[in-house]
Amino acid sequence: MSTAVIGTGGLGSVIARVLASGGEPLRLSSADSASARRLAADIGRGAVAAVDNHDALQGADAVILALRFTVLKSVIDEIADGLTGKLVVVPSNPVGLDAQGNVQRLLPEGQPSGEVVAGWLPAGARLAMAFGSMSGNLFESASNRSPEPAVLFYVTDDNRAGEEVERLIRTAGFEPVKAGGIKQSSRLEVGGDLHDLIVGPATARSLIGGA
Ligand SMILES: NC(=O)c1ccc[n+]([C@@H]2O[C@H](COP(=O)([O-])OP(=O)(O)OC[C@H]3O[C@@H](n4cnc5c(N)ncnc54)[C@H](OP(=O)(O)O)[C@@H]3O)[C@@H](O)[C@H]2O)c1
Repeated sequence: MSTAVIGTGGLGSVIARVLASGGEPLRLSSADSASARRLAADIGRGAVAAVDNHDALQGADAVILALRFTVLKSVIDEIADGLTGKLVVVPSNPVGLDAQGNVQRLLPEGQPSGEVVAGWLPAGARLAMAFGSMSGNLFESASNRSPEPAVLFYVTDDNRAGEEVERLIRTAGFEPVKAGGIKQSSRLEVGGDLHDLIVGPATARSLIGGA
């Protein structure tokens, strides 16, 4: 098994580090390839910098698109032919900054980002929205918590994608809990009731039921 991480900025680098700690072989790419090369060198054994986004997918079973929402569609279009048959994990929150520097949601109120992303993917790609439900710092510090692991929520409409993303979540040192189908993706994003929560499995399951 190996995973491509496309986008090695604030969040992608943290995701890559925790997955590599869990033993996942990684193929990394970034916009200009320099940050992917630096991160691969930093992680060392098990992580390689790909030449470009297409190359990152070579031999990978899954791809994590750790990209800003505004560039997500163009990267999906660029690598669409390589996504069929793969798990596609999207941690992107549909947010940007307005002219005053305030965080604003880029989609109309009530529109789940997962539905929008699902519409951009080619047939045969298996989508799970995951790994973007907490800030990078929180994510890194909560990984491999003991004695009780912290939960990482995910959503998907695809059972196989659910099994695959659960493996990645466990590899990253978390307990996976499904928060529902893709329509529930807004609960995971900035402003959602499950965002930036560090909870154990029992609390997580009661929260899921309580939406
Ligand atoms: N940062 C967090 O704590 C956090 C937490 C939860 C969710 N998220 C979500 O995660 C997503 C990424 O956030 P971030 O903070 O990691 O952003 P970021 O620091 O700006 O990193 C974005 C990465 O995307 C890469 N990139 C841009 N265009 C690309 C292209 N065409 N092909 C390949 N790579 C490309 C950049 O490459 P270069 O390095 O070469 O510039 C950079 O590595 C966002 O949607 C955000 O909402 C972030």
